[in-house]
Amino acid sequence: MSKSIPEITLNDGGTLPVIGLGTYKLKGNDGVNSIQSAIDIGYRLLDSAYNYENEGTVGEAVRRSSVPREELRITSKLPGRYQEYEKAVAAIQESLYRANLDYYDVYLIHWPNPKQDKYVEAWQALIDAKRSGLIRSIGVCNFLPEHIERLEKETGVKPSINQIELHPFFNQAQQRKWHEENNIITESWSPLARASELLQNDTIQKIADHHNKSVSQIILRWHYQLGAISIPKSASPARQLENISIFDFSLDDPEMSIITGLTRSDGRLNNQDPARYEEF
Ligand SMILES: NC(=O)c1ccc[n+]([C@@H]2O[C@H](COP(=O)([O-])OP(=O)(O)OC[C@H]3O[C@@H](n4cnc5c(N)ncnc54)[C@H](OP(=O)(O)O)[C@@H]3O)[C@@H](O)[C@H]2O)c1
Repeated sequence: MSKSIPEITLNDGGTLPVIGLGTYKLKGNDGVNSIQSAIDIGYRLLDSAYNYENEGTVGEAVRRSSVPREELRITSKLPGRYQEYEKAVAAIQESLYRANLDYYDVYLIHWPNPKQDKYVEAWQALIDAKRSGLIRSIGVCNFLPEHIERLEKETGVKPSINQIELHPFFNQAQQRKWHEENNIITESWSPLARASELLQNDTIQKIADHHNKSVSQIILRWHYQLGAISIPKSASPARQLENISIFDFSLDDPEMSIITGLTRSDGRLNNQDPARYEEF
């Protein structure tokens, strides 16, 4: 029996499930099997990217699945090397060809790469692809407030989503508050901090013991109660199920504060500060 995942509404009227499947490193036939299992279990949001070189794998899983296309929400992302307008237009088309899909539900700019100063024209390409029906909702990843303000000022269109690094070791309190004030949904990448030492954290383990849940479930419930969409990646059906089995309990305010308080100023996994880091 598949589980149902609550949805939230975006500023453009679209809706997305509050948990999706991260697919970084899920590729080829094993990847298709993992993604298909996630869909069977109840996942409806799939997070891919041009640079993961697995849009084809995601598309194949969607075709093999018995769930109708319109019930799924499929995300991909524009790489930094294609931020010039014409290149961005072609990359979006290429993303669709790779997945063999008619449209993406969500398309995001992968990194702002501010030194290149091309993200506004990339954004215009996403706006135009949305207008022509190739994309349902558009957004960004790793954008700082100053980058988003510029998008809105120069194009008149605000992103619906900003996908950012977010986990208890890097709680992004300021950025989340800014998103909330600006009606932009926060989406958490590496929500489990890539199963690093975070999953061995004693403080979260105590909270997990109290609720008879796993550490991962406590962390994903924390994301949900922050109002963020999380996209944990798992290749394992058992862990996929574990990660969406978080809607039968809740964390109280002190528990939320304890987890939020685990943040560290250097808590980023790979020191990828969007003001300086670039990805192509
Ligand atoms: N926009 C961006 O710049 C950006 C950057 C990074 C990632 N992303 C997206 O975010 C997604 C998630 O981030 P991520 O893949 O970096 O890290 P993550 O989801 O935080 O962690 C994935 C790791 O956790 C393990 N895991 C998953 N569930 C578990 C559980 N219940 N118990 C124990 N271990 C568990 C997985 O192993 P198994 O597979 O063996 O279960 C995998 O090693 C990516 O896949 C990608 O789609 C976006």
